[in-house]
Amino acid sequence: MCGIVGYTGTKDVREVILKGLKRLEYRGYDSAGIAVRTDEGIYIQKKKGRIDDLSREEVPKRSAGIGHTRWATHGKPSDENAHPFLDCSNELSIVHNGIIDNFNAIKDELVEKGHEFSSETDSEVIVHLLEENYEGDLLTALKKTIRRIQGSYAVVAVQKDSDELVVARNQSPLVIGVGSQEHFVASDVPALLDHTKDVKYLQDGDIARLSKEKVEIWDEKEDLVERETKNIKWDVEDAEKSGYEHFMLKEIYEQPQAIHESILGRLTSFEDIDLSKYDFQEVQFIACGTSAHAGYVGRYIFEKLAEIPCTVEVSSEYRYTSPSDSTPFTILFSQSGETLDTIAAAREAKRRGCNTLAVTNVMDSSITREVDEVVYTQAGPEIGVAATKTFTTQVIIIYLLAIELGLRKGVLNKNKAERYKDELRRLPRKVERILDDKDKIEAMTERLAKARDVFFVGRNINYPVALEGALKLKEIAYVHAAGYPAGEMKHGPFALLTKDTPVIALAIKDHTFEKMLGNIGEIAARDSPVMVIGDEDKEVKKLSDYAYFIPETLPIFSPLLVNVVLQLIAYFTAYRLGQDIDKPRNLAKSVTVE
Ligand code: AGP
Repeated sequence: MCGIVGYTGTKDVREVILKGLKRLEYRGYDSAGIAVRTDEGIYIQKKKGRIDDLSREEVPKRSAGIGHTRWATHGKPSDENAHPFLDCSNELSIVHNGIIDNFNAIKDELVEKGHEFSSETDSEVIVHLLEENYEGDLLTALKKTIRRIQGSYAVVAVQKDSDELVVARNQSPLVIGVGSQEHFVASDVPALLDHTKDVKYLQDGDIARLSKEKVEIWDEKEDLVERETKNIKWDVEDAEKSGYEHFMLKEIYEQPQAIHESILGRLTSFEDIDLSKYDFQEVQFIACGTSAHAGYVGRYIFEKLAEIPCTVEVSSEYRYTSPSDSTPFTILFSQSGETLDTIAAAREAKRRGCNTLAVTNVMDSSITREVDEVVYTQAGPEIGVAATKTFTTQVIIIYLLAIELGLRKGVLNKNKAERYKDELRRLPRKVERILDDKDKIEAMTERLAKARDVFFVGRNINYPVALEGALKLKEIAYVHAAGYPAGEMKHGPFALLTKDTPVIALAIKDHTFEKMLGNIGEIAARDSPVMVIGDEDKEVKKLSDYAYFIPETLPIFSPLLVNVVLQLIAYFTAYRLGQDIDKPRNLAKSVTVE
């Protein structure tokens, strides 16, 4: 994520841009900056921290500028890594949202040609490429530039000698605001709504030129095209949630993009860390809450794809375990990177001599200073207290790591690894298909909203998904729920089964499927309503009161798809009950006490 804003017109450029950026702070707030064109060159102001931290010094009044609020991906939050970036002659400037996959190669080439870089970011290559390609026309330079870059981008560029802005989009959002004698561009509509409700959404491959008088758009074939102008009916608060009623729902819907961003650049080789430096004989995962559930799922993935024995510990309990004779490689999961229990566990793991890796969603968060290595999920900011897209991207990182280690160990051959990677590439589309079925999923929550207790049962890799489904329902709907291994129900919880106790059974066609069918039959025989989420099957249809079948996938990838269904179930149950979904009572997004 990251938020970008551009403006050309007669209003106070700085005010328009800063106000727009404030509306986009939900997209990241690691640093902020603006660039405004002046006759002397580009005036730039940028800083680590929030938009309000930018100084209020007078900006020479000019009629075009760009701004950025950052969610750090490449390079820590700092003044140097803040956008906008300038070319070597201070005549061109850009802001960027996205990830440039091939920036290393481009940077080497540009440095060789004499370009001087001031940051560690991938984005800075864009402005130096623009400079390299610039022969008097910024639009032509941008066209040439985007032919060189691979990855995702929303880019806005401004130059010293013109009031025009040029922009390009691929896989990162960009919307143009249409005004009278002024035009705007931004990552999202909230940034525009103080000035206009008429917008044009750019599509992947589009390039546009904005002046105060007009907007011209070219598609990926470089044909001049018209993009429909839409009138936005939302107010600003609705718009920050992109029209979704809650951040949680928005974040559930962002998962296809989050998966895509997280695998981007990591499928050819996992270069985040030098794996050859470490011993992966044995691995332990440590985390809290939903992140711990990602670890539990990860255990099955590591054991299957890389044949590496794993243990999983909840952070707050880790210190009470006895140090084993060996020192397992330790992976700590924390979306926020600020969970004190997990930070304490990282310290303890180090004290025991383990090598440590943190998987987190927040650049430069506290946990990153406690560990040997860091891998960032690319989920973008998660605002809802309930973790959704960060769980999904944590599990994605586990797949990528396990495939890489499996290949290195010779557990996987190239063909097999490719088969898994192909399926990873297909996951975003499969998640979208589930999201398209939201009405069907919503229908099953009528019963759940009336229940006092709900059980979630699963086997094998879907057992931790049952735990996660139960946690989500408790957390946001305030309905008591418990996750169980399906085979354990008969060892006690069966006593609680009545016609008013719904059971959600996760039934995937792996080697546990027959046993799961048996468990579903046993539960149905106790008159409990059974709702099955899993692979399509006639027997399941017969035995259950309700069944939702996920798109076909390999069993090892089923947790991600099943879990999206459970997220929607929790959301719609909470919605029916009128709960405060984004801010459930007694909870906080980051738990910074032990
Ligand atoms: C999940 O929905 C919860 N809000 C909670 O369990 C959370 O996963 C846990 O507190 C860990 O947070 P972290 O990933 O930021 O460390």
